Amino acid sequence: MKSDVRYLLGVLLAGLSVAVALPVHGADARLQAIRSTPESLRANVQAGKKASFFCVNCHGDSGVSKLPEVPNLAGQNADYVLEQTRKFGDGRRKDAFMQGLIKVLTEEEKVQISLFYAEQKVTPGAQEASLVASGKQVYLKLCNRCHGPAAHGSEVIPRLAGQHPEYLIESVTRYRDKTGQRVDPLMFSAVAPLNNAQIKAVAAYLNTLP
Ligand code: HEC
Ligand code: HEC
Repeated sequence: MKSDVRYLLGVLLAGLSVAVALPVHGADARLQAIRSTPESLRANVQAGKKASFFCVNCHGDSGVSKLPEVPNLAGQNADYVLEQTRKFGDGRRKDAFMQGLIKVLTEEEKVQISLFYAEQKVTPGAQEASLVASGKQVYLKLCNRCHGPAAHGSEVIPRLAGQHPEYLIESVTRYRDKTGQRVDPLMFSAVAPLNNAQIKAVAAYLNTLP
């Protein structure tokens, strides 16, 4: 299969691609530059759609994943997605498959894919009303100040609105229990007070947001 060959090649060439990759701030500057005109944004979003042909297998068409443990990337902030690809790439974020796969992409492809997903739409889910109401209380008290009133995040903070509840529960629980897949001191202290029921409630609330 073509993608398998690409994957293996990527793993073999990983050392080399690190050497030829743009410096970290180069990719961020590139993202900004592309977004500065509608024409370059459009062209690069198109290129990102092509470059994401393999991601579709798990993250779904247009970044809406059908697998509960795989996050939606649709509508996710481009700067955040780009940063997560770097974290997988250098091992700061751990996921055996994503760490291997990300090494196959060039810096330019990572930028383009991030821009493509940011432009896609995610559809909110339906959840039980009482769970949503209690989740909203948790959110306003503990999460709102960083992830924002609409849970759309910012450049450095991920969007949570419309995300799969299963993925949210898993992610928040990992931060709370400091399992080591992801390390973020801000999130560690933000979610430390949560019990499992509160995590479930806040995940349900977030899934309903557009
Ligand atoms: C075999 C399935 C699979 C494929 C194919 C795949 N991913 Fe993933 N991806 C995952 C899983 C599972 C996670 C969640 C990892 C975790 O729990 O931390 C993830 C997480 C991510 C995240 C982090 C999202 C967030 O909200 O923090 C990004 C970014 C990402 N993938 C990008 C990509 C890109 C780009 C491609 C294509 C080059 C791709 N993925 C292909 C399974 C996959
Ligand atoms: C002080 C700021 C701050 C607060 C408060 C905060 N977060 Fe976060 N959150 C972040 C940052 C920064 C990240 C990205 C961390 C990383 O790269 O691992 C993040 C990441 C996440 C993620 C991973 C998203 C993804 O797509 O993988 C989830 C889920 C999350 N936060 C949920 C919450 C919830 C629920 C609360 C409230 C209980 C909360 N956060 C409070 C800053 C915050």
